Amino acid sequence: MDTIIIRGGKPLVGTVEASGAKNAALPLLAAAILADGPVTYRRVPHLRDISTMMTLLAYQGAHVHFDDQSRLHIDTRPADKAEAPYELVKTMRASALVLGPLLARYGHARVSLPGGCAIGARPIDMHLKGLEAMGADIEVEQGDVVARATRGLKGAHIVFDQVTVTGTENLMMAATIAEGETILDNAAREPEVVNLAESLRALGADIEGEGTNRIIIRGVNGIHEGEIEVIPDRIETATYLAAGIITRGDVTVTHAEPGHLEAFIARIRDAGVKVEIGEHSIRCRCDDPLVGVNIHTMPHPGFPTDLQAQFMALMTLARGTSIIRETIFENRFMHVQELVRMGADIKLDGNTAIVNGVERLSGAPVMATDLRASASLVLAGLAAAGETRISRVYHIDRGYERIEEKMQKLGADIERHSGDETWMKGVMVNG
Ligand code: EPU
Repeated sequence: MDTIIIRGGKPLVGTVEASGAKNAALPLLAAAILADGPVTYRRVPHLRDISTMMTLLAYQGAHVHFDDQSRLHIDTRPADKAEAPYELVKTMRASALVLGPLLARYGHARVSLPGGCAIGARPIDMHLKGLEAMGADIEVEQGDVVARATRGLKGAHIVFDQVTVTGTENLMMAATIAEGETILDNAAREPEVVNLAESLRALGADIEGEGTNRIIIRGVNGIHEGEIEVIPDRIETATYLAAGIITRGDVTVTHAEPGHLEAFIARIRDAGVKVEIGEHSIRCRCDDPLVGVNIHTMPHPGFPTDLQAQFMALMTLARGTSIIRETIFENRFMHVQELVRMGADIKLDGNTAIVNGVERLSGAPVMATDLRASASLVLAGLAAAGETRISRVYHIDRGYERIEEKMQKLGADIERHSGDETWMKGVMVNG
């Protein structure tokens, strides 16, 4: 198993390019199930979760391949298996994103029910209730969701109890080729949802309202082939900016979308960071110690839960106290004990972390527990005195493309000690 070793204390300076967003690419890949022709994707990141989704589509019989210009091509016309087996779903919860499109296309689907994960219980009950409202008959058999819509899915008015990103995406995809009009209220407004709606529309879907909390989808007979582009990864962008900030360096991220990061940018400005915004770039400089700032995570456009751990790493070295409240996931503080091992002063009280800034962190062996928690350990390691060894880095590879290479480009002393890249061997591609 790979380990990342960081010798901290060097200011990071320079420019890196944002990759395509994992959480945008995953539903876009699932949307290929709905298309009557091949779909071509630009800016798909090379990540373990993307490989898992490619494997899943290939398992269903789709032709999936990257061309020599890094474009991904998916043709689901030869596919005939409306299933997502446990072996794949257990490694990636987002596999559940195929449920809506499979059911809409085939009138039936069998998708393994995702279990809990390191950050919380994460049920998919709202996805299932929405599909039931659209006429599906759903049962759980031997750990699988077995869904049937023998007379096809029908448009419905669905009000989410709570904002759900993949729930909104799953139902938007199902409604795209369902009969009649579907209204999704209290819908997620995340940029990844907007990327999906715009892409489906480019392939012939009739969707409006994305980016607001009411999305209206009028079902069409089918969607066609086409080419779509994945938006820049806002979480990756902010992680590299945070790497510059925590080392008191000067980092610019290009191919970024500043409009997707307003809450993060506002909070780091409050903490004393100098931020320059270009049309598709963000530059952060930080000469003085940061000032403690409070945050609470919220659905977009609020402060993203996927940046909570990284922001906490910044606050461990800020002057004063920072109160960090996690409102989306009940157990997303697994990084706290690891940061404490590096000398941070953090107390937990339910869903709230009280971070008292310290003068310095010191390198230590730590363990990655989930994707974003791992990113916070990389940040802390970059700032800490001495050596930090992060084990279980396969979590990082789920969501950060070549993280050590990009950090090295900014001047970080970081290297990976390899086990083998077993996840790459798991990719079976046809076509
Ligand atoms: N929830 C339910 N029932 C449901 C669906 C969600 O109770 O049917 C709860 C969840 O347990 C959670 C809250 O609602 O407490 C919001 O969860 P949401 O459904 O929005 O999360 P998700 O769609 O499963 C996506 C991202 C996550 C990101 C969250 C929140 C993808 C593939 N995943 O998850 O990304 O944290 O939205 O923004 O888009 C990550 O990239 O590290 C990551 C975890």
